[in-house]
Amino acid sequence: MTAPIALVTGASAGMGRDIAWALAAAGYDLGLLGRRSEGLEETAEGVAAAGRRSISLIADVCDATALSAALDDFLAWSGDRVDVLINAAGWTGPLSPPIHEISVEDFDATVATNLRAPFLTLKRLLPVMYAQGAGRIVNMGGNHGMRGRAGRAAFSASKWGLRGLSRTAALEAGPHGVTVNLIAPGPVAVPRMKANWRAQAQAEGVAEEVILARYMQAMGAALGQPSEPQDVVAMVMFLVGEGGGAITGQELIIDGGVIV
Ligand SMILES: NC(=O)c1ccc[n+]([C@@H]2O[C@H](COP(=O)([O-])OP(=O)(O)OC[C@H]3O[C@@H](n4cnc5c(N)ncnc54)[C@H](OP(=O)(O)O)[C@@H]3O)[C@@H](O)[C@H]2O)c1
Repeated sequence: MTAPIALVTGASAGMGRDIAWALAAAGYDLGLLGRRSEGLEETAEGVAAAGRRSISLIADVCDATALSAALDDFLAWSGDRVDVLINAAGWTGPLSPPIHEISVEDFDATVATNLRAPFLTLKRLLPVMYAQGAGRIVNMGGNHGMRGRAGRAAFSASKWGLRGLSRTAALEAGPHGVTVNLIAPGPVAVPRMKANWRAQAQAEGVAEEVILARYMQAMGAALGQPSEPQDVVAMVMFLVGEGGGAITGQELIIDGGVIV
C-alpha cells in the first residue's frame, strides 16, 4: 500500500518541523518546503529516521514563481497526489511600529507570507484533492488574527485574512470531501521564541522566567504560560486523523486562554 502524502510549508523550523515529524511518525511521506536548505535537511533526517520518504523544496513563498516551481516539483515527486496540506510558513512582520511607521514593503511581505502563499498553495493543490475526492488542510493563523494588537498591524491583518480564506475554502472544498481548518496559536515555545525570551532576559539582566511571566501577564493568558509546540502538533494530528473527518471551516485557538 502506498503511503499517504503531506506537504508542509515552513518545515525547516519550529512547528512546521514538529508537524512534519509527527506526520512521518504517523506514516506519511512528506514534501518539506522552506527557504533554508540546512533547516530542511535536519527535518528530512527526522523523517528518514521514522522510515519515511521526503522531498525538500526550497522556495521563498513570497515569490509566486518560485513557489509554483516548488509545487510542480512536489507533484512530480508525489505522482500528483497530496492527502494533507499544512500551511505553516509564517512571518511575524514588523514587531512594534504603529501603523503610520510600517513600511509598505514590510506590510506587503507579511501579507505575501501569511496570506497570499496559503492562497497560492490552495489554488494549486485543491484541484488535486478534488480529483482524489479527499484531503485535509490546516492553515496556521495566530491569536492576533482573532483580535487586534497594537504594534502587530501587518501580522494581525494577514492572519485575519487567512481566516476568511480558510472559511471560504472549507465551503468550496466540502462537497469534494476536503476539510479546511485554521489553528490560531498564541505564544508557543518554539526555538525562535525561546531565543527571543533569552535575549531579552540577558539584555535586562533578569531571569528568563521574569520575562516570560511579564509577557504572559500582558497577554492575559488564563494558563499563564506559553504553549508547547506539541500542543499544536496534537491538534493538527487530530484534524488530519480519524477524529477530524467532520470538522471543517473551524478556527481552533491554542493560546493558553488569551482569547476567551
Ligand atoms: N511561535 C508562535 O508563538 C506563533 C504564534 C502565533 C502564530 N504562529 C504561526 O505558526 C506558524 C509556525 O510558526 P513558528 O513560530 O513555529 O515558525 P518559525 O520557527 O518562526 O519558523 C518559520 C518557518 O516558516 C518558514 N518561512 C517563513 N517565511 C518564509 C518564506 N517567505 N518562504 C518560505 N518559508 C518561510 C521558515 O523557513 P526558513 O527558516 O527556511 O526561512 C520556517 O520554516 C507560522 O505561521 C506563525 O505565524 C506562531
